[in-house]
Amino acid sequence: MADDGDGDRDRHRQSRLFTDDDGEFDAERAREESLPVEDGEVIDTDELADHQTYLEGRGIYDERNRVNDLTGKEWKYATKSVIAEGYPPDLQHDLRSEHGGQKPPRLCAELIGRFSKAGDTVLDPFAGVGGTLLGASLCEHESTGLREAIGFERNRRWIEIYETVLERENEERRERDEPPLADQDVRHGDCADLIAEIPDDSIDLLLTDVPYWHMDELEQTRNERETRESKLGAFDAGDGDATDASVDGDETDTSVDGDETSIRTGDDVGDTVRSSTDAEEETQSKDEWLADMAAKFERFADAVAPGGHLVVFIGDMYREQSYEFLSADLAQAIESTAPVTLAANLIWYDPTKELHVYGYPFSFVPSMVHQNVLVFRPESEG
Ligand SMILES: C[S@@+](CC[C@H](N)C(=O)[O-])C[C@H]1O[C@@H](n2cnc3c(N)ncnc32)[C@H](O)[C@@H]1O
Repeated sequence: MADDGDGDRDRHRQSRLFTDDDGEFDAERAREESLPVEDGEVIDTDELADHQTYLEGRGIYDERNRVNDLTGKEWKYATKSVIAEGYPPDLQHDLRSEHGGQKPPRLCAELIGRFSKAGDTVLDPFAGVGGTLLGASLCEHESTGLREAIGFERNRRWIEIYETVLERENEERRERDEPPLADQDVRHGDCADLIAEIPDDSIDLLLTDVPYWHMDELEQTRNERETRESKLGAFDAGDGDATDASVDGDETDTSVDGDETSIRTGDDVGDTVRSSTDAEEETQSKDEWLADMAAKFERFADAVAPGGHLVVFIGDMYREQSYEFLSADLAQAIESTAPVTLAANLIWYDPTKELHVYGYPFSFVPSMVHQNVLVFRPESEG
């Protein structure tokens, strides 16, 4: 995809032939006759260095590009710190949304396109219902080429859903005469064990969405609900204990009296089907959660090749009338153990996110319509 070869470059070199009656280069005629134009400027392809190739409709690709397959023009767009895009509920969204924390496969494909090249290997140690895996497969047809992906997931239900999604999606693609999405390598188990199967430096991109630290909120919510229910048993239903936070839907909702329990960003917990291990993790304190993530990323970092990237979704949280900067805490925790450096914090702003009235009219409470995407790169040795 990246290299159109010398023939293509030579063709563009002939741009010099587009001259006006005075023998001057005629930019307008050149533009009309499909000469390379990037950002509205006609490119004098005589100026292209040997490591540059003009790609029709995409711009100039620099063969020294070690990060991705993007042209300069695409790179400029791809380095924007905000991704302001709502993704349609496609790729068997209904099925995937049983998870609750699923990421749009097309957003994953977009990130994979920014941080890897065709043929690279992508790892998602917390694969869920396969946003990353489907994204890697989409890259074959909608980006610069297939990425091989490996996913770890400890909950069998999510693996079954990924497999069913792929099956149904491919049936529909066959009916539309479209080539199938590749089946990626999903392994059942705890990522802390499975990471041992991955050779050092064999992964080009680790793209994941970490399980949340949240159980104290959920426990609190349950306790509050139980308390309220017992109160409702004893008193009238109109009694007015307004605190309500649902724990199992797409959104965690809260009361309107400024006494909120917690509000999570963007999407949700992804453990509506809980295993005993989930339950254990959910009782972690925030510090335990951070320490657990830091220890896991220390192991994950060994798998990532020099020049690769680790890209991590993490939403911040509002709880007990205070903003929890989980993304900053997690970045710091990972940097403190794993030999990686934080390169960026991208914001995924989802304009399709439904707004809720939180705190009104007593207290400002953010309606979270964004998530953070932390980008780390392995520290170079020596
Ligand atoms: C936030 S979700 C990931 C959702 C995923 N991005 C998707 O699109 O479906 C995190 C997932 O990590 C899984 N998980 C949590 N701890 C794990 C562990 N130690 N090993 C493997 N999977 C784990 C959970 O079951 C959950 O499905």
